[in-house]
Parts: sequence; C-alpha cells; structure tokens
Amino acid sequence: LAKIEIKLAEIPEGKSVTFKWRGKPLFIRHRTENEISTEQAVPVDTLRDPQHDNQRTQNPKWLVVIGVCTHLGCVPVANAGDFGGYYCPCHGSHYDASGRIRKGPAPLNLEVPPHSFAEEGLLVVG
Ligand code: FES
Repeated sequence: LAKIEIKLAEIPEGKSVTFKWRGKPLFIRHRTENEISTEQAVPVDTLRDPQHDNQRTQNPKWLVVIGVCTHLGCVPVANAGDFGGYYCPCHGSHYDASGRIRKGPAPLNLEVPPHSFAEEGLLVVG
C-alpha cells in the first residue's frame, strides 16, 4: 500500500506505536512537552547527522520515522537507550526522541518519510 492513514487519537502522549508501511516498520511517537523542549534545545553542531528537530517534524507533537536502524537494518526498541528515544540492540545505537543518532555505530538519523496532517487528528504517511 502506498499510503497509510493513522488516527492520532489512538496514540497516547508519551507512546511510540509501530505500524507497517511499504513492508517496513513505521514509528509514530506522540511526544510529551518535555521531549519536545529537550529535542529542540539540542545544539545541532554536536550531532553526527546534524538536523534540528524542526527539520524532522511538521508538528512537534508527532515524530514520524522509519523503524529501521541506519547501521545494518535492525528494528530499534522504543523508549530505551541513553537518549530516551530508541535503542537498537543489535550493536548498540542510541537515538533520541527526534530519531537522531546520538551514540553507537549507526551513521545517520532514522529516516523521516513523507507525511502530512490531512485534517484534525489524521496523519497520512506516503
Ligand atoms: Fe542497529 Fe547495528 S543494526 S546498531
């Protein structure tokens, strides 16, 4: 299926839910105020793959990323690791709550797929 529609009301704040999209895991994370302010404050020049949080989200409450580690393709675990985002247990890559690589062997941030907020409460990915 090319596009997937997700009803955001089904994802409580603080949770990351996994969907399947084009054969890959898709993580949708309903970020807390605390996560948003933490990620927006990270100095971009300290990052391996420098991207400001604003470049990765269209609506700061919602992080939309492909759940495939950019090292060798394992599926990271949500709400784990040293940066509160995702942790890949295969070789120990730590991602933050913006899906950015912060520690471990992965070279790049988790990929943000094309997405839009079509109407109130509805996210379209693809
Ligand atoms: Fe994720 Fe190696 S595949 S750290």
